[in-house]
Amino acid sequence: MLKERTYLEEQILNGKIDEYLQSLIPERTGLLKEIEEFAEAEHVPIMEPEGIATLLQFLRLQQPQKILELGTAIGYSAIRMAMTLPNARIVTIERIEKRIEVAKQNFEKSGLSDRITLVESDALEAFEVVKDHGPFDLIFVDAAKGQYRRFFELYEPLLSERGIIITDNVLFKGLVAEELETITPRRRRGLIKRIQNFNTWLLSHPHYDTVIIPIGDGIAISKHRGEQNEKA
Ligand SMILES: C[S@@+](CC[C@H](N)C(=O)[O-])C[C@H]1O[C@@H](n2cnc3c(N)ncnc32)[C@H](O)[C@@H]1O
Repeated sequence: MLKERTYLEEQILNGKIDEYLQSLIPERTGLLKEIEEFAEAEHVPIMEPEGIATLLQFLRLQQPQKILELGTAIGYSAIRMAMTLPNARIVTIERIEKRIEVAKQNFEKSGLSDRITLVESDALEAFEVVKDHGPFDLIFVDAAKGQYRRFFELYEPLLSERGIIITDNVLFKGLVAEELETITPRRRRGLIKRIQNFNTWLLSHPHYDTVIIPIGDGIAISKHRGEQNEKA
């Protein structure tokens, strides 16, 4: 039998909590605001305010000095990460030429280009280039959702011993919790199935402890267990 929902659960479901939390996050100004407005106008997907606030808080706690990001888009999250950690270096990968150009301009404008390296490539083909910049204390996966497992498996060998991997969009607008047959349009079902499979695989990974936080579009935080502490 389903248990009765609490008042808080009702408020979460009807979007009130989300609205409230968003209203608490201070408005961005200057270049960040400009990038957000550009992204909205040009339909470039960038992290939403609560998602990025959560990511940045993990950065403050974890203090990674070398970060790998898969999926630069126009540089918004890379710039925010570099602003949050004044000594960190970021390697970020993007494959769409138009976005690469805008990202480069944004990195220049931000004055942070000396700490951000943009790899212009498909992330699935960039390992040889990226490995020379590793190991990384944090890997942030925010590229094609259907490829998450491949990204994870390809780049996790570059994670430093105490590193974490953060994967965005793992709840995909909440659709991962739906019965596949009820999802329309039908063509979306394949992608949702892939994300569901990734989440199942990740949560039972023998070498990582993972939690999924239902913030933004759903963020998975994976921490390597270390050699001494692996699941039997
Ligand atoms: C959600 S956006 C990234 C947003 C960015 N992290 C931010 O919050 O500012 C995903 C980006 O990943 C890029 N992408 C997807 N698959 C990729 C791949 N295999 N290699 C490189 N880039 C990829 C897309 O072109 C897109 O610009």
